[in-house]
Amino acid sequence: MHSVKFTNNKLFYLDQTKLPKKEVWRSCRTIKSGWKAIKDLKVRGAPLIGVFAAYCICIHLDKLSKTKSIFFKQLKQSFDYLKSSRPTAVNLFWALDRLAKVSLENEQKTVKQIKKDIVKEAKDIHRQDIETCSQLSNYGATLIKNNESILTHCNTGFLATSGQGTALGVIFQAKKQGKNPTVYVDETRPLLQGARLTAWELKKKKVNSFLITDSSAAYLMQNKMIDKIFLGADRITALGDTANKIGTYSLAVLAKYHKIPFYVVAPLSTFDLNLKKGKDIAIEQRDQKEVKEILGQTLICPRETKAVNFAFDITPSKFIKAIVTDRGIVYPPYKKNIEKLIK
Ligand code: MRU
Repeated sequence: MHSVKFTNNKLFYLDQTKLPKKEVWRSCRTIKSGWKAIKDLKVRGAPLIGVFAAYCICIHLDKLSKTKSIFFKQLKQSFDYLKSSRPTAVNLFWALDRLAKVSLENEQKTVKQIKKDIVKEAKDIHRQDIETCSQLSNYGATLIKNNESILTHCNTGFLATSGQGTALGVIFQAKKQGKNPTVYVDETRPLLQGARLTAWELKKKKVNSFLITDSSAAYLMQNKMIDKIFLGADRITALGDTANKIGTYSLAVLAKYHKIPFYVVAPLSTFDLNLKKGKDIAIEQRDQKEVKEILGQTLICPRETKAVNFAFDITPSKFIKAIVTDRGIVYPPYKKNIEKLIK
């Protein structure tokens, strides 16, 4: 199961806005259409946009100058352009910075060779993302016992990564191990990544699941229907504060009140140690139309109504029981333990 393919220098992606009704694969031929695919959430999920952006650079290399000084200037402009698509998920910046680093480290080589090195690095990022997902899924699955009920939010599976996923990867792993998890899936307003994408993935993998409205989560917790919560992350600071899909923070507060373990699952590429606290993270604000309409089809309020549409929120680390990574599970105190893990 994949959502991005790069073969013979051609880039293809599964258009996630068409799911679950249709599985539509599209070809991405220009950096501009790649930027738009990310912006419009056709390609989404923190790790996946990193991989996809790296490949957007690869398909653009032919258009860059053969003269080295101009090549480097244009390359930097291309990185900055793709970085302007979405501000919150650090994986996008991380992947492009890896390509920038490789190009600068090989500055003495010919432009042709530097381009080859960039493509190799993009493929490495892709391959490593697949490996990372299976590593963190293995660690995370140790936290799940037989027949537990798990709540999740947004989409963190093979659509959001190039491997089996992060939080959803953990659940798939537990299923593979015969633990028989039941998953409650928040629909995840306004763009319904839970209903459209997570419910679709769980059905494909034959995991027992129920879709719920976002506002049902509290009632389920109050009635002891949830044993654990697993979700992903878009950026984690040095203190462990975590940006993730809007609605994550309220789940974390509810989980604390109801004494339900709340786990964040993310690869090391989602950590941003340049930022200390959650409030330092740039939160994407999207078009109010996404709130006022259901998937661009039905207006659900008076046309003149104003809406706010923050795409992410911040969960302070004190609400997080542990962070599952590809290098192991990190428990509080986060500052010390994240530093130790990443060094
Ligand atoms: O706006 P989206 O759909 O890109 O948001 C995605 C999320 O918030 C995911 O939880 C996060 O990227 C983790 S992906 C493994």
